[in-house]
Amino acid sequence: MKITGKHIVISGATSGIGLALTRQLYSDNKVIVIGRNTQKLKALAEQFKGISTFHVDLVNLDQLTTTTANILSEFAVIDLLINNAAVQNTPHFTAKDFDYSSIRDEITVNFTAPCCLIHQLLPALLASNSASIVNINSGLGLVPKTSSAIYCATKGALNIFSQSLNYQLENTNIDVQQVFLELVETPMSQGRGSHKISAEDAAQKIIEGITLGTTEHDIGKVKLLRLLLRIAPSLARKIMKKY
Ligand SMILES: NC(=O)c1ccc[n+]([C@@H]2O[C@H](COP(=O)([O-])OP(=O)(O)OC[C@H]3O[C@@H](n4cnc5c(N)ncnc54)[C@H](OP(=O)(O)O)[C@@H]3O)[C@@H](O)[C@H]2O)c1
Repeated sequence: MKITGKHIVISGATSGIGLALTRQLYSDNKVIVIGRNTQKLKALAEQFKGISTFHVDLVNLDQLTTTTANILSEFAVIDLLINNAAVQNTPHFTAKDFDYSSIRDEITVNFTAPCCLIHQLLPALLASNSASIVNINSGLGLVPKTSSAIYCATKGALNIFSQSLNYQLENTNIDVQQVFLELVETPMSQGRGSHKISAEDAAQKIIEGITLGTTEHDIGKVKLLRLLLRIAPSLARKIMKKY
């Protein structure tokens, strides 16, 4: 897909990779951003002239339904939906302050909301000549680490869901793609790991993958992880466990 003149919906564009994607895509496309923080959305609209912003906290699925209805009333056609917003919490199941609500919200934002967003925007995606749904995934969706068990599980679920959805949509104009990212320098990865790529690099590589139409686009060290999973799976698990 050549990414010019497209209507593009991006979730979580107020920070990190979503922000970099918006910066790289807005001048040649109509970028439609959804986010939970009205101040940040306002600042984004001032920074990137011509984008449209819609407010929604993805924890609130009723609010999401209202927001997607508002998007559809303005945009009858959507060519690209990038499910990027996510959170990574670190509840440890043996910890005294273990918080069930953090699990519920993490599952909702990372998995349930992208599913709802896809379903609710489907009429506009089906109205495109050629549409793509791009789900932003992680190496942790292939092999988990010890902390952030729920985050890893939501990315694993997103992986299987994306494959199955691709089957469901195979006779339509819509293809489903996934990007598996290595560690990227963003607020989400603060205090986690080292040797990270920049959000701008990650966004550029994501855009390259979408342009090529790659169904599963592995970025950086995820390529090595896939290889290791084939030839030495227990080593791959051992490395990722401590990640
Ligand atoms: N960073 C990494 O190392 C890495 C590695 C692999 C995969 N990924 C994936 O890359 C994607 C982007 O992550 P990032 O690193 O750019 O993270 P980030 O900088 O923390 O950005 C996350 C975005 O999601 C939004 N968001 C979070 N909860 C939301 C909610 N309830 N409702 C609406 N929006 C919400 C945030 O909004 P606010 O600005 O309001 O907080 C922000 O715009 C995620 O899918 C992540 O899993 C990241």
